[in-house]
Amino acid sequence: MEIRQYRSEDKAALRKVCMVTAPSFNSDKARDALFAAYLDYYLDCESEFCFVAANDAGTPVGYVICAPDFKKYSERFFSNKLPYSAKLIKSDPGVWLAKKAETLLMKKTAAEYPAHLHIDILPEGQRMGIGTALVDALKEKLRAHGVPGVFLLCSAKNEKGVNFYRKYGFKELKKLPGSIVFGLKTGC
Ligand SMILES: CC(C)(COP(=O)(O)OP(=O)(O)OC[C@H]1O[C@@H](n2cnc3c(N)ncnc32)[C@H](O)[C@@H]1OP(=O)(O)O)[C@@H](O)C(=O)NCCC(=O)NCCS
Repeated sequence: MEIRQYRSEDKAALRKVCMVTAPSFNSDKARDALFAAYLDYYLDCESEFCFVAANDAGTPVGYVICAPDFKKYSERFFSNKLPYSAKLIKSDPGVWLAKKAETLLMKKTAAEYPAHLHIDILPEGQRMGIGTALVDALKEKLRAHGVPGVFLLCSAKNEKGVNFYRKYGFKELKKLPGSIVFGLKTGC
């Protein structure tokens, strides 16, 4: 298994990983929302902070994607100069609203933990240390760029996710209705 930086030719494979690990987004419209909200912005605009786990055939089986500066991310994501916000509001206004609320709710957290991440691994690649290796790579990248911390939101019902972040050493920063905010210092 190789952990490497994202390349634009990985996009289709990462969309597959994203779909398989978010089975509730199961219509064309829902998938448009899924990609607009949780994948494409990071790959297109923050590729330096996106890492892929590729199997021996070179096929991506997982990823961690990240925006290193939440303030900049919030401004850019919702700017009408980029397509993501408009695509999202068209495909799922509820998810758009949740993301908008997040920009306000996470303002304070982001002062200490400016980066945020999303991580997904295909079921057949899970529990083999890949998630840990991806976060290791991202943490080192953020540290080298002087970014002091990274946060994420995880559904409180996502037992795998909650266990994974706890085991890795993420701190539970706060509880929101239905989800937990985890944070990790990078050591810089
Ligand atoms: C959560 C996820 C990223 C973890 O990645 P992973 O590569 O499977 O995790 P690792 O193999 O590095 O596991 C590290 C530790 O996390 C915990 N963990 C991982 N998977 C677990 C599971 N299924 N059940 C319980 N604990 C688990 C364990 O403590 C594990 O250490 P151990 O194997 O020595 O006991 C992965 O399961 C995944 O992509 N899940 C689906 C999508 C998702 O939930 N993404 C996160 C959304 S917030």
